[in-house]
Amino acid sequence: MEWSDEIKGKVEKLEKKYAASGQDLGSYLDGLLYTNPLHYWDYTCIDTLLSLQHPKTDFPDEEIFIIYHQITELYFKLALNEIEQIAHNGKNISNEGQDLGWKNRLEVEFFIARVKRINNYFEALSKSFGIMVHGMEKEQFLKFRMSLLPASGFQSAQYRMIEICTTDINNLTQKDIRDSLKGKPISEQAQHFYWMEGSIEVETGKKTQMLENFVKKYMDKFIQTAEAYKGKNLLAKYQSLTVEEQQNEVLITELRQLDLNINVNWPLVHYKSAVRYLSQDKNDVRATGGTNWQKYLPPRFQKRIFFPGLWSEEEQENWGRQWVLNALKGV
Ligand code: HEM
Repeated sequence: MEWSDEIKGKVEKLEKKYAASGQDLGSYLDGLLYTNPLHYWDYTCIDTLLSLQHPKTDFPDEEIFIIYHQITELYFKLALNEIEQIAHNGKNISNEGQDLGWKNRLEVEFFIARVKRINNYFEALSKSFGIMVHGMEKEQFLKFRMSLLPASGFQSAQYRMIEICTTDINNLTQKDIRDSLKGKPISEQAQHFYWMEGSIEVETGKKTQMLENFVKKYMDKFIQTAEAYKGKNLLAKYQSLTVEEQQNEVLITELRQLDLNINVNWPLVHYKSAVRYLSQDKNDVRATGGTNWQKYLPPRFQKRIFFPGLWSEEEQENWGRQWVLNALKGV
């Protein structure tokens, strides 16, 4: 059989590729000969994925609760993938698809494109949160939730990772002592993450069991990640751009939108679900994690802002309020 020039060219490239690492093309061609065709169900591990729901009760709506949490975690993973690429300036991929390592410099266009993606993920999450707010029967929810104590979405490590990899740790500390913690070692500031303060038992004022378990499992990892991302979190990457690049209006708009999406819009649709299920005329229902959620969850109390330099003092002062005003006006 006569080979076309195109095929010959490809074989030559393959030979070069394997020779470069001292390997033999012939053995790889044998592998190709024996490999089975790929199937959708194997590639997506669909059987495994669909076997990962383990409700604790027989209430059918508990499955919605589990699956929607899992969907959210997958979106968080997508967001972290984008953040990692920005942190390392993006991958260098050869025409043959080879990974040539991270690039030396972050290009503004790449930065914008990846932040846009993260915004898309969080906008999809905020839009779909109705699945939680209206998509389960309150009666079922109030019963099956009792089997989930003391677990809470509060214990989502990826949610905290997104924060840690996006901004300076100081912006994630309790707002009243934030200024006094500036410049202190990361391990010290980590003891004052805003969520450490938020997770205090309503009655006793003690740390909740849910918080203790979470800290025990993940705090070391959070500190290590904050150290590793000190010079390459999204805020640091923005600050490392030239003065001219930092003034790029599209980049500024996307970073501000990211701040709003992660620190206002998602927290508020999430808060709506707590109000829908846990608010009652007389005494509010206790959250599974045990926090004083009415005081903890609203963004205007926590005032988490990833890129404070991109907001005016007035905007920072009114953080999270505009949304409530718009909601009241029906915007
Ligand atoms: C009916 C639905 C939901 C309700 C009623 C609810 C309720 C709550 C409450 C009361 C808290 C405060 C901590 C506590 O005391 O437990 C909390 C925290 C949290 N939940 Fe949910 N949640 C719901 C759905 C979700 C979903 C689908 C996710 C997705 C992963 C999630 C992620 C989180 C996160 C990340 C926090 C911490 C927020 C922060 O630190 O500001 N929640 N949730």
